[in-house]
Amino acid sequence: MARPRPCPSPCNVLLIGGGGREHALAWKLRQSPRLGTLWLTDPDNAALARLGTPCPQKMDFTDRFHMKRWCEKNDIHLVVVGPEALLAKGIVDLLQSDTRMVFGPSQDAARLESDKAFAKQIMRQAAVPSPEGRVFDRAESAQVYLESRDEPLVVKATGLAAGKGVVVCDTAAEAMVAVDRIMVQREFGDAGDRIIIEQRVTGQELSVLALVDGRNVWILDPCQDHKQIGEGDTGPNTGGMGAYCPTPLVDDATMAIIEREILIPTIDALRRQGIEYKGVLYAGLMLTLGGPKVLEFNCRFGDPETQPLMARLKSDLIEVLWATCTGTIGEFEIEFDERTACCVVMTAAGYPGPYAKGDPITGIEDAEALSDESKQVIVFHAGTKAGTDGGIVTNGGRVLGVTALAADLQAARDLANAACDRIHFPGAYFRRDIGDRVLQPTDR
Ligand code: GLY
Repeated sequence: MARPRPCPSPCNVLLIGGGGREHALAWKLRQSPRLGTLWLTDPDNAALARLGTPCPQKMDFTDRFHMKRWCEKNDIHLVVVGPEALLAKGIVDLLQSDTRMVFGPSQDAARLESDKAFAKQIMRQAAVPSPEGRVFDRAESAQVYLESRDEPLVVKATGLAAGKGVVVCDTAAEAMVAVDRIMVQREFGDAGDRIIIEQRVTGQELSVLALVDGRNVWILDPCQDHKQIGEGDTGPNTGGMGAYCPTPLVDDATMAIIEREILIPTIDALRRQGIEYKGVLYAGLMLTLGGPKVLEFNCRFGDPETQPLMARLKSDLIEVLWATCTGTIGEFEIEFDERTACCVVMTAAGYPGPYAKGDPITGIEDAEALSDESKQVIVFHAGTKAGTDGGIVTNGGRVLGVTALAADLQAARDLANAACDRIHFPGAYFRRDIGDRVLQPTDR
């Protein structure tokens, strides 16, 4: 067998994407002594822009010839893909070469996220625990099915819907409305051509991200995300209002079950279909009384989970990603800070509905000044851009990921909240209760 290609130094990196996840990845890539040029496809983000070199023109990923030529001309060694949409379109298959590694799964493997019906089929074949569900191609059949149900259900568009295609329903009547929205009104476009109607399970939600190199799996410490807009987990779902890592909600025995009964069987089932999985495999899980069940698979780093994960990562991120791409993650020892990291997301007024852009942001330096030798505040930018007067303005619904690293969850959350209190923009909103499912457990 050919020896794996060693990690180059300097290593020129193309980072695709421009949100909080990508700022956290760029922040960590920048710390690598191996980094050559860090090229950015989305340099609007004010803080990300300071960490790399903008690609000379807006990248047109549909122009396959141009993309390949550009990577060749600029001697790109490693491509790091943030968002799922390009993975689903086959960016890895396009740009991967003998000398260039692209971090992420192939188009076929990315179907685990881009086609929830496919993911369900793989899980069934591999006996991976997940809620009972049925796939429908026609609204009428789904509605007939719902007439015979009276339990809480979840209706999911099977395609990519920017994290919005999942409707959690208390009653079959609500599920009827969801079917209408997705399949008849086509609220999520083609993503809703097929749906899954799934049994609704309860418990604690958990995000487990694993690096998979085709053969070996390296499971990162578990995180917990908080998707709802309101404190106490109320109101509509968002892209994520905060996440912390590690979470004490799972013990080593449960993590071993997640590895043995979920991650490895899924990768093996793909392999039996001739599909090799490389990149991050992110399992969105529910810890039910009957054990962990898969709510969804994602084939990229989570957002905001990546922000606390990168805050804690001590190893060289370029080496970690390279080892994943070259099939050597099994020989790698990834090191994390023992402390807990908590990311609290600050959003623009109105989010997750329509929101304003262009409002000036102040206080970021004051927030980061709360750092000392025992604790650290890092303000990751999700939706910002440079203002005309040299300041920074809002440019998205999720504006900042205020991430604190401290001795334990309580200290990290308190520090993140204190840092948010120092940051100001009109209508700024954040949840003060990130981590409360551990810090203030209730029956919810
Ligand atoms: N944290 C949710 C996601 O990344 O999809």
